[in-house]
Amino acid sequence: MATKTKSKVAKPVRRASPPKARPVAKARKLSGEVYYPSKKVIEQARLKDWDKLAKSAKKDLRGFWEAEANELEWFGKWKKVLDDSKKPFYKWFTGAKVNIVHNAVDRHLKSYRKNKLALIWESEDGKDHRSFSYFGLNRQVVRMANVIKSMGVKKGDRVTIYMGRIPEIVFAMLACAKIGAIHSVVFGGFSVDSLAGRIEDSKSKLVITCDGSFQNGKIVQLKSIVDDSLKRCPAVENVIVVKRVGNEVNMETGRDHWYHELLETPIADGKCETVQMDAEDPLFILYTSGSTGKPKAILHTHGGYMVGTYSTLKYVFDIQDDDRWWCTADPGWITGHSYIVYGPMLNGATSFLFEGGPSYPEPNRWWQVIERYGITIFYTAPTAIRGLMRFGDSWPSKHDLSSLRLLGTVGEPINPEAWRWYHRVIGGEKLPIMDTWWQTETGAFMITPTPVVPLKPGSGTRPFFGQEAEIVDEQGKTVGDDTEGYLVLKNPWPAMLRTIYGDDERYVTQYWSKYPGKYTTGDSAKRDKDGYFWIIGRVDDVIKVSGHRLGTAEVESALVSHPAVAEAAAIGLPHEIKGQGIYTFVLLRAGKVASAELAEELRQHVATHIGPIARPEEVRFVDKLPKTRSGKIMRRVLKARAQGLPEGDISTLEE
Ligand code: PRX
Repeated sequence: MATKTKSKVAKPVRRASPPKARPVAKARKLSGEVYYPSKKVIEQARLKDWDKLAKSAKKDLRGFWEAEANELEWFGKWKKVLDDSKKPFYKWFTGAKVNIVHNAVDRHLKSYRKNKLALIWESEDGKDHRSFSYFGLNRQVVRMANVIKSMGVKKGDRVTIYMGRIPEIVFAMLACAKIGAIHSVVFGGFSVDSLAGRIEDSKSKLVITCDGSFQNGKIVQLKSIVDDSLKRCPAVENVIVVKRVGNEVNMETGRDHWYHELLETPIADGKCETVQMDAEDPLFILYTSGSTGKPKAILHTHGGYMVGTYSTLKYVFDIQDDDRWWCTADPGWITGHSYIVYGPMLNGATSFLFEGGPSYPEPNRWWQVIERYGITIFYTAPTAIRGLMRFGDSWPSKHDLSSLRLLGTVGEPINPEAWRWYHRVIGGEKLPIMDTWWQTETGAFMITPTPVVPLKPGSGTRPFFGQEAEIVDEQGKTVGDDTEGYLVLKNPWPAMLRTIYGDDERYVTQYWSKYPGKYTTGDSAKRDKDGYFWIIGRVDDVIKVSGHRLGTAEVESALVSHPAVAEAAAIGLPHEIKGQGIYTFVLLRAGKVASAELAEELRQHVATHIGPIARPEEVRFVDKLPKTRSGKIMRRVLKARAQGLPEGDISTLEE
C-alpha cells in the first residue's frame, strides 16, 4: 500500500479534461471539481453506458423495472408492472406471487452459490468469527423460522426484533419474511420509551432479543430494556432471547425462552416452506422520525422492495460474484435492511457484518477488518469518515487496503474535505465514491452515481434509472440552477414505501399533499447546471445526528417527561463530527432552579428515554421560548439566534 502511506496534503486528481474512455454522454465537460473514472474502473464496470440506460428507463419506466424484475424468480408473474390507478397508493407487480427470501436465499441453493459465503461476521473484540455459506444461512433461517412459528406467529403478524449486530439478527429478519410475518426491527441503541412505543404501535406478540450487546467493551443490557418496555406492552406473549454476552438476565417463566434451548428441541428441526406472498404483501415496517413526537412506521413490501434493492446494489456498487461487501450500518436502520441483508443477498453476494464500531479499541479497527477479510466494497457514513479522519492518516496506513475497489457513503451530506480524505487515504486516489442519497421511505438508492459517472465531492450526482428529481419553491415551481429549494421526486419506484402502517392519511399528507403528484422528500437541495444534485439538509423538524434520524419533537417530549421541566425546544446545529448535534432550550417549572447538575441530569434523562444517540450536546435554561401567536415553538428562530444568523420572517412571532 505504498501509495496510501503518504500523508501529504490532498493532491487534487482533478483533470482539466475527461479521459479517453467516455462513459457518460460523450463525457461532457463538467464544471467545478470533477473526478472522472479511470480506464480501469470503466473496464471493470458492468454498466458502461449510463446515458443509454438512463434514456431508455426515462422513456419506458415500466419496461426498465420489468426487465429488472425478470432477473429474479417469481412463483407467479404480475398482471401489471405498475398500478397507479389509486395514486398515491401505487402498487407494483400486482398479481405476482413471490417471497423475497426465495430470491435472497433459496434460489442460491440451486447453483454454485450454495457453497459461497453469504455472511461473514466478526465480534467487537475480534476474537470470534462466524461465517455462513448460502447453504448454512438457509439452515439457520429455517431453524429460526420453525422456532418463530412455534410461538404461534402467522402470516401478517408483526415481530419486533431488538438485538445487537450479530448474525442472529439477520436470521431473524429472513425467518420472519420466509413465513410471511412482518418484521419490525428496532435499533439496539434505542432505550425503553422508543422500544415500548414501537412494540405497542406495531402490536407485536413476539419480541426477539439478546441478553445484551457489546459496545466499546461494555455491555448494553438489552434484555432488561425489553423487560422494562414490556411492562407497558402486555400484549407480548413471547420473548426469544439469544445468548450473546452471557450476563445474568431475568427470564420470566412462560414468556421468555432461550434461543439455544429452543434449538435443541425438535421444534427447530425439519423443513420450513417459504410462504408464497402477493407482491404487495408487507415485508417489514421500520419506524423513522418525522416532525411529530410519534415515529412513523414505514411499510415496505415483498415484490417492489425486492426489485429495488436488488437492482440498485447491482448497478451502483456493481456488485460481482467475487466481491466482499461491507456496509457498516446497523441492521436496525434502513441502510442495514437494504444493504446488509436484502440487497446483497438478492445479488448472491458475500455480506460482512461487524459487531463493533470504528475506533474501539483503537482507530484502526475498521481498516484492520478490511485487510483481514479482503473487503472489496466499503460503504459507510460521513460522520464515521470525519471521526476517523481526525485520528490522522497513520491509522489506515498501517493496513493493506489494496483489496478495495469501490467506496460509498450515505446518511447525510458529505463535506468535500471528508470526501477528499476518504478518496485519497482510503481510496488511494483511485477509487470512485458512490454518494448515495435515499431515505427509509425510498427503500433504495434514489440519487446516486454508478462507478462510471464523473464525481463531484459532496454531490450524489443524478437520479437513479427511472427516477426524475426536481427542485421546487414553496409553490411547487421549478427553481433555476444553483438555487436552493425543496427536493421532490417525480416518478413512482418499486421500493417506495406503500404507506405509514396503520395511518394512510398521514402517508398522503406527509408525502404527497404539498406538491400533488410529487413525492416530498423533506430535504432541501440544489441542482447545478450539469444536472448534479447537492443535498443541503432536512427542511422539517428532523435532525441527522451522526447519520441517525431523530425528531426534535421526540427529544422535547422526553425532556418534558422530567418533573423539573415545563417546556422544551430542541434544534439541530452543525457539529464537526456528528454533522448535527442536538441543542435544547428548557423552561423550568416554578420553584425549580437551573444548575449545571440539573442540565446534566436532563441530558442523561433524554439518553435513558430515547437512547444514547439522542443525548443533547447542551441544555440551556431560558425564561421564554419564541413562539407563534398560536403557540407553536419557532425552532427556526432559535436556530438562527444560536448561530448568530438573520432570523428571517418573524411576523408571526408572539410578543
Ligand atoms: O436528509 C437526507 C439524509 O438522510 C435522510 C434520510 O434519513 P433516513 O431515513 O434515516 O435514511 C438514511 C439512510 C438512507 C434524507 O432525507 N441523507 C441520506 N443520504 C444522504 C443524505 N443527505 C445527503 N447525502 C446523502 N447521501
